[in-house]
Amino acid sequence: MNPELVKQIDATHLPVHIAIIMDGNGRWAKLRGLERTEGHVAGVESVRKVTECAARLGVKYLTLYAFSTENWNRPREEVDALLHLIVMSLRKEVPHLKENNVSLRVIGDIDRMPAHTRECLEKSIEETSVCDGTVLNLALSYSSRWEITDACRRLAREAAEGRIDWASIDDEAVASHLSTAGIPDPDLLIRTGGDERVSNFLLWQIAYSELYFTDIYWPGFGADQMLRAIIDYQGRERRFGLTSEQVSEHGQQ
Ligand code: IPE
Ligand code: IPE
Ligand code: MG
Repeated sequence: MNPELVKQIDATHLPVHIAIIMDGNGRWAKLRGLERTEGHVAGVESVRKVTECAARLGVKYLTLYAFSTENWNRPREEVDALLHLIVMSLRKEVPHLKENNVSLRVIGDIDRMPAHTRECLEKSIEETSVCDGTVLNLALSYSSRWEITDACRRLAREAAEGRIDWASIDDEAVASHLSTAGIPDPDLLIRTGGDERVSNFLLWQIAYSELYFTDIYWPGFGADQMLRAIIDYQGRERRFGLTSEQVSEHGQQ
């Protein structure tokens, strides 16, 4: 990590949860005359760098959007290559995660994954479960509308079975039925690759997140870019609907 950038970080005001839409692998590869898949392979290096950066800084949660529900509609060969890469990368990276005291967690419709991919994910989660530092939360086969719909379905069922009173359903009840239950909302959402959209990612959870967009393609994103995003975040005033005066009075969280 660049010491000049590290110096600019206020360690007492770190984002607790950073979420990243890792976009631009295909364009990164195309620019270099490579197959799109080569971009995904290069992207794994960025995942490692960013995870290590989060662990070293003490960022508690890092959620990475790795494969969306909509990505299932990509050409079959690309989907297969991505699934294969997930398994290969987990096998390779788990020892590194343990060294950095990082535990793995997954959100998404994992039942759509092939059995051996699911088994590999479960094994990696189990192997890193002793780590109590940063939580690396991988969004796989994930989309926010899938997640919110699933939460509604479960709440409706609990109400129909008389286990909860429908009138008591509040923000907290909804949040506790999402796959991110127990994880605080992201403070900072980063999207690489130049597009300024959220592509069905954490729609409920980013209600008050600070958004940071960069043109850099994901394989070009590393620790220094992450530090720059955090520095930018730390320069912002989060008002949560209040006035600036109220925020100064109560002190920034
Ligand atoms: C992000 O890179 C990785 C995934 C969505 C799996 P892309 O594959 O979307 O790369 P671009 O956006 O086409 O460049
Ligand atoms: C978002 O990237 C999903 C992931 C990074 C996994 P996409 O490339 O799928 O998003 P769109 O299609 O450009 O919105
Ligand atoms: Mg893309």
